[in-house]
Amino acid sequence: MDDLLRALPKAELHVHLEGSIGPETLVELAPSLAVEDVRKRYVYNDFRGFLDAYKWVNGYLRTPAGYALITRRLLERLESEGVVHAEINISAGVIVWKNQDVDAMFEAVAEEAARHPVSTLFIFDAVRQFGVGAAWAVARHAAKWAGNGVAAFGIGGDELAIPLSEFQEVFDFARSRGLRLVPHAGETGGPDEVREAVNRGAHRIGHGIAAAQDAGVMDLLRERDIPLEVCISSNLCTGVVATLDQHPVRRLWDAGVPIVLNSDDPPMFHTTLLNEYRIAAQQFGFAPNELRRLAENSLRYSFRTGDPTRTSGMV
Ligand code: ADE
Ligand code: ZN
Repeated sequence: MDDLLRALPKAELHVHLEGSIGPETLVELAPSLAVEDVRKRYVYNDFRGFLDAYKWVNGYLRTPAGYALITRRLLERLESEGVVHAEINISAGVIVWKNQDVDAMFEAVAEEAARHPVSTLFIFDAVRQFGVGAAWAVARHAAKWAGNGVAAFGIGGDELAIPLSEFQEVFDFARSRGLRLVPHAGETGGPDEVREAVNRGAHRIGHGIAAAQDAGVMDLLRERDIPLEVCISSNLCTGVVATLDQHPVRRLWDAGVPIVLNSDDPPMFHTTLLNEYRIAAQQFGFAPNELRRLAENSLRYSFRTGDPTRTSGMV
């Protein structure tokens, strides 16, 4: 099974660079920590607990060399999983919040990424609860690098904090600079958040699993060909889905909603991209031809090609 999954050419379209740090690598960055302490921090009761841990990890990223190291580790792992292309979220909003130099950090990341056979594009992520002003700063940084390694503007964090509508001008600006839009929506929020993301011009939607609760929203995604970046283990670890059998991945697929499998923050959710495919096969009965189609989706919906002015998914 693993050999078959590894051999499938595939892309990882939703992985956070700062959430890809394994305990050993974090200890390398912060020798005062013990691996066991980090492991304990990588267990959460709920989504808020995860966000606290994510913030804690980010606090140990202080230098361009640190960002380069985690880029290397992530790309080595993705290559070992048969990933040929990765679109990697960078929490630029957190870098700005830490008062660090976004350009210096990204230059180090991009320089490291260029050394690896996995092709990469980057997504500069704002943090929803930091507000519209902070999102503008991220969008301006992203615009500076647009077409030069950065393909999209995203927004993560607490989707319940501020309505997406308040970010419309930021989205319009990002789009006008050739950036695609990839908000997290419908992860902790309901199906209306997914509809809202579509209305604001999303090209892909991070998570979006709440769409399964509303046939109209599923129709909308299908008609507009907008894919959901589904991250099964993440949803379990953050408690947004109570048990594996309640996860809507199979229902979304059977309803014809475009989906792509992803790992989100893999070591923080005790997973890998291959493991997400394995779960789809073993827990949700995805047959080999369906796994192949999922892998094809990951390449099809990547931002390597296509017209950024389109509202729908890429061809
Ligand atoms: N940042 C990193 N992982 C995230 C997630 N799953 N949801 C929202 N923001 C995030
Ligand atoms: Zn995410």
